[in-house]
Amino acid sequence: MPDRRTRATGSRSTDALRVRPRRLRRTAALRDWVAETEVEPRRLVYPVFVRPGSGGPRPIASMPGIDQYTVRDLGPLGRELEGEGIRAVLLFGTSRRKFPDGREAWDRDGVIPAAVRELKRAAPGLVVTTDVCLCAYTSHGHCGVVRDGEVANDPTCELLGRVAVAHAAAGADVVAPSAMMDGQVGRIRAALDDGGHESTAVWSYSTKHASAFYGPFREAEESTPAFGDRRGYQMDPRNGREALREMALDEAEGADLLMVKPALTSLDLLARARRRVAVPLAAYQVSGEYAMVKRAAERGVFDEAAAVDELLVALRRAGADLIVTYFAREVARRSRTGR
Ligand code: PBG
Repeated sequence: MPDRRTRATGSRSTDALRVRPRRLRRTAALRDWVAETEVEPRRLVYPVFVRPGSGGPRPIASMPGIDQYTVRDLGPLGRELEGEGIRAVLLFGTSRRKFPDGREAWDRDGVIPAAVRELKRAAPGLVVTTDVCLCAYTSHGHCGVVRDGEVANDPTCELLGRVAVAHAAAGADVVAPSAMMDGQVGRIRAALDDGGHESTAVWSYSTKHASAFYGPFREAEESTPAFGDRRGYQMDPRNGREALREMALDEAEGADLLMVKPALTSLDLLARARRRVAVPLAAYQVSGEYAMVKRAAERGVFDEAAAVDELLVALRRAGADLIVTYFAREVARRSRTGR
């Protein structure tokens, strides 16, 4: 009795080899025609660092090609981004002065509210999202207020609510809490609604692992913790089921979008989450992932554009709807000019 499977795969002889996946890989036209995944520029989010004061864009040493901007630089930047086909930015601020409770973070005339207003004025078509955290504003560099040597959860949520309201009042479309406090999404949602900002969306960094890959960002943000680390609130990278639990909680608390980071270490989570949550799911390719690619390419290890395309396509294939990446501008430029 001939086995159908044996015949189909042709293990008897080459003549019987009927199934040949290479047929559709033969030409570029065929490959493009059947490709399953695309990294459309509309899905990319460009992170923007903003500092108080003046003096123009300033390069960040640990992140070649990325600058820290002042509010005045954001008009021209916003128009450039729009012209390049970038649809959304994620803003990160730094403080003039750091306090134990990070109070500049909810100052309505602080750097992020000013940045939001400037971008909305200059580039009204951009989706403006803001990071909601305290680490760049606290004197100790932790993501919340410290009580008895620990980051106190509920008081921090209260402050994060104020930060979110300050950003929403300035016109932010989306606020993105990244402090990893329990209940922060619910608290922020309530604060926004009480403040009349029921249309402002919440994008939760629900799955944020304690990671070595945030190193360069902490230079950009001047936010390295003065003592200890963030493992008491960020997730343990060994845990995947817990990540799904965090996402479910955030969705239940009213998150409109979710985020997973770092990206490359979370492909399994993207794939599992995509099947379970209904809201848009984003992957954040963080500063260390960016620096790793940049440095390797500088040393001739590989071609930067090819490496970036492969990494981003893997995130889309795994299930990311949106990708936050410092490569956003380069990728958008390549997709416009075909390299
Ligand atoms: C703030 C925050 C961090 C990042 C995003 N939001 C740093 C951290 O938690 O230490 C990292 C982003 C990056 O590395 O690109 N809490």
